[in-house]
Amino acid sequence: MRIEIAPSILSADFSNLLKDIKKCESAGVKILHIDVMDGRFVPNITIGPVVIESLRRKTKMILDTHLMITEPEKYIEPFAKAGSDWLTFHIEAVKNPSALIKKIKSLKLKAGISLNPATPVSELSKYLKELDLVLVMSVNPGFGGQGFIPSALKKISDLKNMTRLAEVSAKRAKNKNVKISVDGGINFDTIYGVVKSGADIVVAGNSVFRSGLSVARSIKKLKMSATKK
Ligand code: DX5
Ligand code: ZN
Repeated sequence: MRIEIAPSILSADFSNLLKDIKKCESAGVKILHIDVMDGRFVPNITIGPVVIESLRRKTKMILDTHLMITEPEKYIEPFAKAGSDWLTFHIEAVKNPSALIKKIKSLKLKAGISLNPATPVSELSKYLKELDLVLVMSVNPGFGGQGFIPSALKKISDLKNMTRLAEVSAKRAKNKNVKISVDGGINFDTIYGVVKSGADIVVAGNSVFRSGLSVARSIKKLKMSATKK
């Protein structure tokens, strides 16, 4: 199975961001995960559209933007304008997910929904057909470097089954491109279960930028650890 590792720049060196990003490019990374936090939805503040705008000028990698913010509907356009490719919002932060998915898609971006560890996957079922991406949180969002929450594994496999079933029932496999991404606490040990359970994309912060190995070696090791325990 082919998986993509999406490095989370939250664990990168912000005083040398470009350098870390170029390391990802050289290691063959296609998706860069960008954590946006507002100090309200989560107890931390990170970056906004201005940083994304600067990154957009320097890289062609997919800018996978994870909005951990309240009222994400207010910021879809600024992030689209700044150059995000994928926009993922939290289902816990909105009243009308369908409207937001439509808005993101109308701006020609890929739309994703993220679920906190405490939110059941059943909350997603009615939006699955409209989505490009589901982001399963395997830590409580807010900080990099936290421990993996094992109950995420069952959520990943349930979600995988839900997408398969939806494909069959939709006949035309309308949502066959829904990707399952998993975010938080993924390292050389935990990646195996995450991928076995059905993840297509693995977000990794500390295990890419702070493993003690180079970025390229970390990514290689993550990919190897994903296939054998
Ligand atoms: C958590 C963020 C994650 C996190 C990943 O709120 O959404 O993207 O920074 O970092 P690690 O892999 O270190 O848990
Ligand atoms: Zn994230």
